[in-house]
Amino acid sequence: MSGFYVHVPFCKKKCSYCDFHFSTRFEGYREEMIASIGQEIIERKGEYPSPLKSIYFGGGTPSLLTSKELSFLIKTIQENYIIDSSVEVTLEANPEDVSLENLLLWANIGFNRLSVGLQSFKGIDLKWMNRGHSAQEALSCIGLAKSAGFNDISVDLMYGLPGLKKEEWVTHLKTVINAGVSHVSAYCLTVEKGTLLSAEVKKGKRSIPEDDIIEEQYLLLVSFLKENGFDQYEVSNFAKKERYSKHNSSYWKGISYIGVGPSAHSFKEGYRRWNVSNNSLYIKAFKEKKLYHEEEFLSHEEKWNELFLTGLRTKWGVSKSQITSFGGLTKKERAVLNQYILDGKLEEGPTQIVLSDSGFLFADAIAKDFFRVS
Ligand SMILES: C[S@@+](CC[C@H](N)C(=O)[O-])C[C@H]1O[C@@H](n2cnc3c(N)ncnc32)[C@H](O)[C@@H]1O
Ligand code: SF4
Repeated sequence: MSGFYVHVPFCKKKCSYCDFHFSTRFEGYREEMIASIGQEIIERKGEYPSPLKSIYFGGGTPSLLTSKELSFLIKTIQENYIIDSSVEVTLEANPEDVSLENLLLWANIGFNRLSVGLQSFKGIDLKWMNRGHSAQEALSCIGLAKSAGFNDISVDLMYGLPGLKKEEWVTHLKTVINAGVSHVSAYCLTVEKGTLLSAEVKKGKRSIPEDDIIEEQYLLLVSFLKENGFDQYEVSNFAKKERYSKHNSSYWKGISYIGVGPSAHSFKEGYRRWNVSNNSLYIKAFKEKKLYHEEEFLSHEEKWNELFLTGLRTKWGVSKSQITSFGGLTKKERAVLNQYILDGKLEEGPTQIVLSDSGFLFADAIAKDFFRVS
């Protein structure tokens, strides 16, 4: 079984914090891009284990595609891959694209899950972020999606934003809970190199909150969502009644996934490939029948590091049987583990090693302490 990811590399506007792969000038080659992604879907059939248990359209902004373009891509997948009967089919949607008309079209094409990028309900945040939607649109799109029959709705929110007060953060969380979403992804704002935000922070035009404020907002997030029946199944991801994202879970559980479109990554049993992050080179490669990706095979040590990096981010932790399959912990690693247990950051169960609530905040740093060098 595998997950399937389609990267749509178009956005209407450039958000000031974002360094994902996308272009805002795409009308001239839009059709060629969709045709090339379609070609990649066909070319790569049979490469990854069947059936597909999740299909995820991400970006960029897949919700700006027309229903004809979305149907074409979904049909191409359906005609070329074996698909599980309970497949999760997610569309990442920006609030400004969420209308009743679009929602009904998306449901009709086969999408059964929406992931909506709300980010914040504060008008001034949306303005400096250069988002394409208003606070009102962020508020109303969940209700619209529910009225169109979508039951699986996830929202993306951000904390650690300049000037975000703790009371405001709790209000944002309350708002999405009251709207009845089943899944929340909450990310701490990261200042990525080369973004407008990074330049503004350097110039002192915008300032990122201190670590203790970020930690306070993170702990509020965890406790507030838990009190309201959400289960934290990954550092940044929370779901009600086990409605975990099947697709995102594949990334953390080491399940194979195929990624098509510029910049998309694929993974299968220690093999990783990534497509070129350039729209014109991607299209050109299909015209000239050239390679459009790079690849690597993970070494034994890299597989071990991956086990800790992905496993520790989840509530399932790192399984002890997998540790045994690598020959077990070394003396030094055992000592590191014992110290983290004493510090209350890691817990050792009969079958796995998991992070405690306070440890979750330091997941990546803790994982790195178990890394092996080749
Ligand atoms: C790449 S975006 C694609 C989704 C969609 N285009 C949107 O804007 O809502 C996926 C999510 O990553 C998060 N994200 C992107 N850049 C980020 C950053 N620098 N710091 C924290 N979260 C970020 C946002 O919450 C966003 O919704
Ligand atoms: S956050 Fe979303 S809409 Fe904004 S630039 Fe990034 S991918 Fe595009």
